[in-house]
Amino acid sequence: MADAPLLELRDVSAEYGPFRALFGVSLTIMPGAAVALLGANGAGKTTVARVASGLVPAATGAVLVDGRDMSGRRTYEFARAGIAHAPEGRSVFATFTVEENLVLSFRQSLGKARVAGALSEAYALFPRLGERRRQLAGTLSGGEQRMLSLARVLVEKPRLLIADELSLGLAPIVVDEVYETLASIRTSGTALLIVEQHIQHALALCDHVAILDHGRVGWEGPAEGAANVVVSQLFETGSST
Ligand SMILES: Nc1ncnc2c1ncn2[C@@H]1O[C@H](COP(=O)(O)OP(=O)(O)OP(=O)(O)O)[C@@H](O)[C@H]1O
Ligand SMILES: [Mg+2]
Repeated sequence: MADAPLLELRDVSAEYGPFRALFGVSLTIMPGAAVALLGANGAGKTTVARVASGLVPAATGAVLVDGRDMSGRRTYEFARAGIAHAPEGRSVFATFTVEENLVLSFRQSLGKARVAGALSEAYALFPRLGERRRQLAGTLSGGEQRMLSLARVLVEKPRLLIADELSLGLAPIVVDEVYETLASIRTSGTALLIVEQHIQHALALCDHVAILDHGRVGWEGPAEGAANVVVSQLFETGSST
């Protein structure tokens, strides 16, 4: 289906045990589109990212990839359909070196034969990782750990990259670098779902914005000219960000 959305959340609710985090969330990402997902702390952004990559199942409603219902599918099936998730926080194996982290990840996602090629691509993308290939990942700086997480998903050339607060805790100059990388990925045709506290960066990169408010989509619209709406929505929901 050429015109099917790459990803669609259709009236999705999601739960953690007895706690319901999402209520009837609908969100559509067309191939090549870039969507910013904003909202106060605890609004449900990370939960949407998890549902969109198969980490958390939808309790009701449906998640579709290329128009196919992915209910009950596992995370690796989302990955094979081209959905990559760079999760919140530092998602590296601290006691393995930079290169071991990359090799482990590429072996799983791309197969043994493609590991060497993928490593050179990763180091071309982030030369700093190449310089530090033998360093234990746990001793990398926060920004370098983010680069390592990003390199893992980027080299796999996903069709949709879901990035959850990639720039959290990074120096402004590193945030700029991360956003330059995201912009070039976008240009190469990868769709983006960006969860971000740096609203200006997110608005500059994305063409569509969805604001979550207590587990519901409170506002949705084009990124262009959305800054005022975004600020007032976030103030109304009590966010300090
Ligand atoms: N594993 C979990 N178990 C129980 N409750 C959870 C779990 N993960 C998230 N929640 C709850 O679900 C709600 C939404 O959380 P979520 O992490 O999606 O918010 P968020 O918008 O990403 O917030 P932040 O900006 O702080 O990262 C919160 O009330 C949170 O406490
Ligand atoms: Mg979050």
